Amino acid sequence: MNRYHGRVVAITGGAQGLGLAMATRFAAEGAAVALADVNDRVLADAAETIPHDAELRADVVDVTDSARVDAWIAEVTGTLGRLDVLVNNAGIIRDNRVEDITDDDWHAVLGVSLTGGFHCARAAFGPMKRQGYGRIISFSSMSWRGNFGQANYVAAKAGIVGLTRTLALEGARHGITANAIAPGLIETPMLASMNGAARDKLTGKVPMRHTGRPEDIAEAAAFLASEAAGYVTGVVLDVDGGLSIGSSIR
Ligand SMILES: NC(=O)c1ccc[n+]([C@@H]2O[C@H](COP(=O)([O-])OP(=O)(O)OC[C@H]3O[C@@H](n4cnc5c(N)ncnc54)[C@H](O)[C@@H]3O)[C@@H](O)[C@H]2O)c1
Repeated sequence: MNRYHGRVVAITGGAQGLGLAMATRFAAEGAAVALADVNDRVLADAAETIPHDAELRADVVDVTDSARVDAWIAEVTGTLGRLDVLVNNAGIIRDNRVEDITDDDWHAVLGVSLTGGFHCARAAFGPMKRQGYGRIISFSSMSWRGNFGQANYVAAKAGIVGLTRTLALEGARHGITANAIAPGLIETPMLASMNGAARDKLTGKVPMRHTGRPEDIAEAAAFLASEAAGYVTGVVLDVDGGLSIGSSIR
């Protein structure tokens, strides 16, 4: 399939995990891909591993730095000619019970996921409006509904839902859609960093009885970013094996 031929896709946090899986998928479908990440070493490795026919850029960008984000989006549109898809994927966790979350851990988590997503969407809106076409996909989490020990992460991921719905309203008349993906438990370095016992316990609660693969998320992103999804906007797509539905007695 070459449905992204001629399209330019920018992905934050693109060096590993879900970002890398999506970059691989979009490149396989013919897109020019621009990766941004803070981890320069992993980013360089990622750029080596992604097979691509169209152009591939890999830039060190901290999404919390709005001036750097503005410059990155300008570099992407300047060198690749346009910007069709923005994937706000960069995110971090600093889990703790609410009384033990430090100011730094609060601001760090909201800064990357929520403020970073805002910086990128704001920078992308101009070129997307001028084209009369755009797709913005931002990463929430099944946790956005609330999760023990994750007040900072939950606030960021719930914020992404509000940001997405507002981007959808403001983008609608310009051909820009905005949607969020809320993954459940997906096998990435972020999940691997979780306490093993907690991870096993949570996996046991997934109605499908197994964790997801990064490719499951890439599939959802490839749909939401497509021309075919042009009438879908403002939604939060759960990709979680049923985990967010509710209790599953077995
Ligand atoms: N893996 C899961 O089970 C899961 C579940 C729900 C939501 N998510 C969300 O999906 C997204 C991707 O998760 P993942 O599991 O691939 O995580 P990951 O930790 O494997 O990858 C995240 C990437 O973001 C980059 N990053 C961190 N801070 C950055 C910054 N300031 N600027 C630019 N890049 C930065 C990291 O270097 C890393 O490459 C995140 O937003 C995460 O919250 C993941």
